[in-house]
Amino acid sequence: MKIVPCPSSPALAVKIADLLKLEIAKTTFKKFPDGEIYVRVENADEENIVVGSLNSNEDLVRLILLLDALKGRKIAVIPYMGYARQDKMFLEGEAVSIKTLAKLLENLADHVITVNIHSREAASHFKKLHNLDAMPLIGEFYSSRQDLVMISPDVGSYDRVKSAASVAGCEFDYLEKKRIDATSVEIKPKEIDVAGRDVVIVDDIISTGGTVVEAAKKLKELGARKVEAACVHAVLADFATIKLISAGIRELVATDTVECVFSSISVSKLVSDAISNLVF
Ligand code: R5P
Repeated sequence: MKIVPCPSSPALAVKIADLLKLEIAKTTFKKFPDGEIYVRVENADEENIVVGSLNSNEDLVRLILLLDALKGRKIAVIPYMGYARQDKMFLEGEAVSIKTLAKLLENLADHVITVNIHSREAASHFKKLHNLDAMPLIGEFYSSRQDLVMISPDVGSYDRVKSAASVAGCEFDYLEKKRIDATSVEIKPKEIDVAGRDVVIVDDIISTGGTVVEAAKKLKELGARKVEAACVHAVLADFATIKLISAGIRELVATDTVECVFSSISVSKLVSDAISNLVF
């Protein structure tokens, strides 16, 4: 069995290979002048584990070509499952992107392992998905910090912040939007007073940064002393990092599901354990 790394997750693939004591297959990725993508695996095994996040359309094409090029039993490790936010038809006629992706991936791989897929709905389109939770790892990262409050920017991420905070051993809450009258809404933590306290905004994905920036603004207005942010998937599209810095967020902690300068936490052990349970 070998680890086959994709260009989106090379460091994580190496860590997983080291933990499982597996060799790494030699891969070649090229782009033709017209933009078409080429992939080759030279020394694949009978069974292989492909590791690659889906943070761009090219990542998706590479992963699919790679999975199809491999023979035998395959596990697709997709640490960040892109396209999962389009998990239902919001408007008539829309493609349910994650449903299409699920069909494709499950046709090409025997197992699909991911980390904190965006929603239950997204997960429901798969038949053989192993959806791992990295929130406890975020909790562990903050476990030595005193008097910290973890806040999720909306009720949708409440279970996530609860999972992280229970490991960190800190208080947690979510930002609640309350309509006051026809023209105004009040946004504040449901229970906790954040005045004078250090707050970490915890979410699954930071993409454009808009959600975290709005939450940070509110928390500052409410008197929070310091506002930081943590997420599993640091997608950081559209100058998100600059927006976060401009909003006064100087510390951002993320996992390596999307490899970047903020990947202070590795999901390698979480993923390796899941692979071991499947194959060893
Ligand atoms: C929303 O449901 C997610 O949990 C995140 O809050 C959202 O994807 C973040 O996106 P952005 O950074 O673009 O506001």
